[in-house]
Amino acid sequence: MEVSSRRRALLKVIVLGDSGVGKTSLMNRYVYKKFNQQYKATIGADFVTKELQVDDKDVTLQIWDTAGQERFQSLGSAFYRGSDCCVLVYDVNVLKSFETLTNWHDEFLKQVDPVHPDVFPFVLLGNKIDIDGGNSRVVSEKKAREWCSSKGDIPYFETSAKEDYYVDDAFQSVAKVALQTD
Ligand code: GTP
Ligand code: MG
Repeated sequence: MEVSSRRRALLKVIVLGDSGVGKTSLMNRYVYKKFNQQYKATIGADFVTKELQVDDKDVTLQIWDTAGQERFQSLGSAFYRGSDCCVLVYDVNVLKSFETLTNWHDEFLKQVDPVHPDVFPFVLLGNKIDIDGGNSRVVSEKKAREWCSSKGDIPYFETSAKEDYYVDDAFQSVAKVALQTD
């Protein structure tokens, strides 16, 4: 028998950010509980699904991993359409990856063109907090949170795909905010 649609949701999530920040690694950690030290650039885009619960609701996240490297962004942006949440990722040890967040954010909104762009759900992840015990980070948590506020209270998590710090928490939040568009 079919379960009431009110209690189920299929949510489309797009993961964006510069090449090498750890988008694929975060997804692999979350969905497969695995981490690979070796870098293999994502080409085009592909998705994985993950089932979880938010409150009393069964949620299926369809998580789209994308290529950070421009030359591999071959799919165009048609697949952004119908997104319920955009996850932005930067590397806390690489300033450039933080500085380009505004580009990723604005470009995403431009492509998706949602009815209410100012309340479209984003989540920001500052990844690789494990490196050098945090001593090599160049973007402070404060600075990241200021950016989130400037874009309208975007939830923020500091993560490590390698050490599995806050990855589950982050995607739980992603599911929660994505449900708002439901
Ligand atoms: P593109 O596919 O090119 O856009 O890159 P990406 O954002 O998917 O990065 P990817 O997940 O491939 O990770 C890049 C490199 O960083 C890999 O060598 C990973 O092993 C490493 N890496 C990813 N996350 C972490 C982390 O949390 N900590 C550490 N120390 N290394 C990480
Ligand atoms: Mg990748």
